[in-house]
Amino acid sequence: MRSLIDILELSTEEINDLVDVATKIIADPAAYAHKCDGKILATLFFEPSTRTRLSFESAMLSLGGQVLGFSEASSSSAAKGESVADTVRTVSCYSDIIAMRHPKEGAPLVASQHSLVPVINAGDGGHNHPTQTLTDLLTIHHEKGHFEDLTVGFCGDLKFGRTVHSLISAMSRYKGTKIVLVSPDELKLPSYVKKEVLKKNDIPYEQTTDLEEVMPKLDILYMTRVQRERFFNEEDYLRLKDSYILTPDKLRNAKEDLSILHPLPRVNEISVAVDKDPRAAYFRQVRNGRYIRMALIMKLLGIE
Ligand code: NCD
Repeated sequence: MRSLIDILELSTEEINDLVDVATKIIADPAAYAHKCDGKILATLFFEPSTRTRLSFESAMLSLGGQVLGFSEASSSSAAKGESVADTVRTVSCYSDIIAMRHPKEGAPLVASQHSLVPVINAGDGGHNHPTQTLTDLLTIHHEKGHFEDLTVGFCGDLKFGRTVHSLISAMSRYKGTKIVLVSPDELKLPSYVKKEVLKKNDIPYEQTTDLEEVMPKLDILYMTRVQRERFFNEEDYLRLKDSYILTPDKLRNAKEDLSILHPLPRVNEISVAVDKDPRAAYFRQVRNGRYIRMALIMKLLGIE
């Protein structure tokens, strides 16, 4: 039985296979409509979510399976003081696969150690978010046609943004990847990611506070929201929240085939005027989230 807690648990071949299957599903969804008949997905969300939870549910329903779960900790036995281990032991008796989001780093890993069924990490605190990364990778593959030789800029909250940490790990395995980190000083990429991912794999990277200066070299621009819920005080959040606002004007010097990604939700960091730019890929990215999760659920359940 296999869970998915960290994106690096999947080999690059497995990622290519998932991208392949997702692309086939997009072309012919009807062929997959009964692949998970009789299977149940449980979504255990101890933290708010729109896209991730609903895309998991939509994925399972689109495969013919069923879903159950909760969308806030206050409506589960966690409110009575139950441990994650006990909750997951219980829910794994009611389901065939579990998607879990939790504010504590490592909670889905603990869950996977006590579960009778596969557990998928749907985001753990400021740590990791592997299924968003699969969504991002599918989007990059559709937009660019390959994963090699890409200069990827990450802009915004690189400290708390778990999607950033997971995507940097994933991209570090491809030949020719260059990383450009754009953030205010207070929201720089954690040093453990720099050391364990970028330095360890000899990935060329630069850090700056100036988005416009680095814009011309980017193939992918990954914008992120400042993660309000991870701040210790509101004042710091208010000071930093509008550090970067992408507008059509700031894209003046960007490549013509730049792809702009964002895991969403967007707050202020991309002006709505950018939405009609053909380089804005973030709503195509949302759609991809459903299909790559269909491919992943089938894989973890051992369904061809
Ligand atoms: C992201 C998350 O939850 O980390 N959203 C998502 O899963 N699509 C990004 C965010 O909340 O800013």
